Amino acid sequence: MTSSATTRSLTGITTTGTPHLGNYVGAIRPAVRASRQPQVENFYFLADFHALIKCDDPERIQRSTLEIAASWLAAGLDPAKVTFYRQSDIPEIPELTWLLTCVTGKGILNRAHAYKAALDKNEAAGQDPDFEVTAGLFMYPVLMAADILMFKAHRVPVGRDQVQHLEMARDIAQRFNHLYGERLVLPEAVVDDNVALLPGLDGRKMSKSYDNTIALFSPREQLRKQIMGIVTDSRAPGEPKETEGSALFSIYRAFANQAESASFAKAFADGISWGDAKQQLFERIDHEIGPMRERYQHLISHPAEVEEILQAGAEKARAMAIPFMAELRTAVGLRALGAKAASTRSKEQSKGSVAQFKQYREKDGRFYFKLTDASGQVLIQSKGFDSPQEAGQAVKRLQSEGSAALADLQEVFEPSTNVKTEAIYEVLERAFREKNV
Ligand code: TRP
Repeated sequence: MTSSATTRSLTGITTTGTPHLGNYVGAIRPAVRASRQPQVENFYFLADFHALIKCDDPERIQRSTLEIAASWLAAGLDPAKVTFYRQSDIPEIPELTWLLTCVTGKGILNRAHAYKAALDKNEAAGQDPDFEVTAGLFMYPVLMAADILMFKAHRVPVGRDQVQHLEMARDIAQRFNHLYGERLVLPEAVVDDNVALLPGLDGRKMSKSYDNTIALFSPREQLRKQIMGIVTDSRAPGEPKETEGSALFSIYRAFANQAESASFAKAFADGISWGDAKQQLFERIDHEIGPMRERYQHLISHPAEVEEILQAGAEKARAMAIPFMAELRTAVGLRALGAKAASTRSKEQSKGSVAQFKQYREKDGRFYFKLTDASGQVLIQSKGFDSPQEAGQAVKRLQSEGSAALADLQEVFEPSTNVKTEAIYEVLERAFREKNV
C-alpha cells in the first residue's frame, strides 16, 4: 500500500549487552554501508521492549541502550539520512502489538523456535515445561511483527535465526489484511550470507553467550590485550602457519581488503610468529575502529546528546506511526461512536458461509478430506489417510489454526493443491475467525 517508489528497510537491535567486534562486522558495518544507498529508506531502532524479555536489570538496559546507540552513531550512521529511534518512545508499537495479538493464532506462537527451545530445555532438565518462561517470551514474535508492520517495511535485514520471526510477521499481516482490508505491507527477510561470521577469542563464533568476545570500543590498550588473547596453535616462530581454521586469520580478513589478506596469508606461510601476527591484526583493526573511538567516548560521556538524537528520531517515526495507527484503529472498529464504518471488507468476505470441508472414504478403503469453495471448486485435496481420525485431525487443525497450519500440512495434500493460493487463505481465515466452515 505504500505509494512511494523507494524501498523501506527496517531493523532492530536488542539493547542487552555491549557491542563487540562480531556485532560490528555482522550488523553495524553492513547496516551503516547500506544506509548510504540511495532509493532505500532506512529505519534502525533500539529494541528495548524486546530487551526486557531477556533482562530485568534496569541499569543494564539503560547502559546498553546508550552504548548501542553511541556505537551505531560512532560507526557512521547518519540520523539525518535515516530514521533512528528507540522502540519504547513509540507508544503506537505496543498498541499495534495488541491488535496483532488478537489475530494471531496461539498455535503459531507455540511453534516459535525460541519458545520451543525454552520448553525443551526445561523438559531436558526435568522441570515443568513452563518453568521461568514468561508470556513476554511467548509474545516476542508479535511485538517484532508490530515493529515491522508499523512502518510498512518491505525488507528486514536479519540474521538467519530471525527468519522464522519474519515468516510469522507475514502470516500475522496476512491474517490482519484478510480481516480488515489490505493495510499492512508483507515484509521480507533479507539474510546476507556474505557478511563475515566472526570467530571469537576461542575460535567459536563470537558471541556473548560463549564469553569469547572482543569489545568494539574498549580503549586501545585493552583492545591490544584482548587480541593477544586469541587462541592459536603451538607452532613456533619460523614454522609455517595454517590460515584455514585460524581465528586470527578470519578476523583479519573481516577487516582487510583482498590484497592485504593475501599478504597476511603469505606471512603465515613464511612462518610469522603468533605474536607478530597478533600485533598486525591489532593494527589493522585499530586502523578502522580507532577514528570512531573518539566519537564513541564523547557520546558515552554526553548521554544527553544521544538522547536528543533519539528524541528527534522518535518524532520522525511517530509522524508515520500516529496517523497509521489511527487508520488501523478505525479499521478494526475502535472509533468514534458516530463515525460511519468505512468498510473495506471485500464482497467475498461479506457473503454468507460458503466453503466446506468434506470427509469421505474412497473405494481404495482410505479416508480423505477436501475443502471446496462456494462454487464447489476444490481448494484443498488430501491424500488418503489410514483412519478417519487422522483425516479428522488434519481438518481440525485447519479449522482451529487457519492458514497458519498450511505449511505443516503440506505433505498430506495432493500435489495439485497449491497452498499459496489466495482463495485458500481467504476461506481458511474466515473459518478461523467465524468458525463457519
Ligand atoms: N529479534 C531481533 C534480534 O534478536 C531484534 C528485533 C526486534 C528486530 N524487533 C525487530 C529485528 C524488528 C528486525 C526487525 O536480532
